[in-house]
Amino acid sequence: HVQEHELIERIKAELVRQNAVMVVHYYVDAALQKLADETGGRVSDSLDMAAFGAAHSAETLVVCGVRFMGETAKILSPEKRVLMPTLNAECSLDLGCPADEFTAFCDAHPDRTVVVYANTSAAVKARADWVVTSSNALQIVGHLKEQGEKIIWAPDRHLGRYIQEKTGADMLLWQADCVVHNEFAGEALIDLKRQHPDAAVLVHPESPKAVVDLADVVGSTSQLIRAAHDLPQSEMIVATDNGIFYKMQQAVPSKTLIEAPTGDGSHCVSCAHCPWMAMNGLQAVYDALVSPDGHEIFVPEAVRVNAVKSLDRMLAFSK
Ligand code: 13P
Ligand code: SF4
Repeated sequence: HVQEHELIERIKAELVRQNAVMVVHYYVDAALQKLADETGGRVSDSLDMAAFGAAHSAETLVVCGVRFMGETAKILSPEKRVLMPTLNAECSLDLGCPADEFTAFCDAHPDRTVVVYANTSAAVKARADWVVTSSNALQIVGHLKEQGEKIIWAPDRHLGRYIQEKTGADMLLWQADCVVHNEFAGEALIDLKRQHPDAAVLVHPESPKAVVDLADVVGSTSQLIRAAHDLPQSEMIVATDNGIFYKMQQAVPSKTLIEAPTGDGSHCVSCAHCPWMAMNGLQAVYDALVSPDGHEIFVPEAVRVNAVKSLDRMLAFSK
């Protein structure tokens, strides 16, 4: 078995040889985040991963995250080869919103504008009018409300409810959730806040209402990292996947970061780390580069031409 540093050197050589660049989500293993930083790649949130991959001149994107992120990259850059460490990295939001059921739901409400979260399959994006991420969902839905649009929202029920509350928009909500964020627990967070009365509470909006209601800042992964830096508090309680701690701690080396509590106190399922994000590792990145069969993302052109419209609309809005 090769040593880790040897594996890293081999990956670096392959990235150069193949004119490839790594695009990595904050929830992925720190070793991959570090490698992306060292090789001109990007570590970021879902919105910025999409924008970075689309704008980059590389011939190959190595997308480290979950499948919808690889699909988004391919939809935006059909001429690039998009590789993933594994094609089995799902997302409970994507799984919870099958394209056929979703299409039937949309067909039953033809008067509504269809807004879907980035955490969906290419086929669901193809049925949508807009794609949004947690970075821009509030602004985009706010804009649609001003235009007098009624909305179908899918798939995350917590994020949908949060946006509905904030904007007052008329939204029909699909009822899926994220296995990680859905487990953050309000009662336990109240107890933790008592032990750390001066800590700021940073919450990703895929979390349940009881947790969002206790937040000082609600935002996407990149917005939470910025908030950790900008807020005056020296302690932060963080309710999102604990993969974020690598970059967040780099942003605030002298602050104390505390994981928000999950589950019922004695038991959790995801325990603040996405099981699908966890499938990304150094060996899998190397395998994808040297034997790409079974690692490459393809999106049927008939799906892509529709999905790209709703994605482009989002990117143009967020520029
Ligand atoms: P963002 O990075 O866009 O906040 O997304 C969070 C997430 O759950 C991605 O899987
Ligand atoms: Fe999906 Fe949640 Fe995993 Fe993100 S953390 S990929 S939303 S299951």
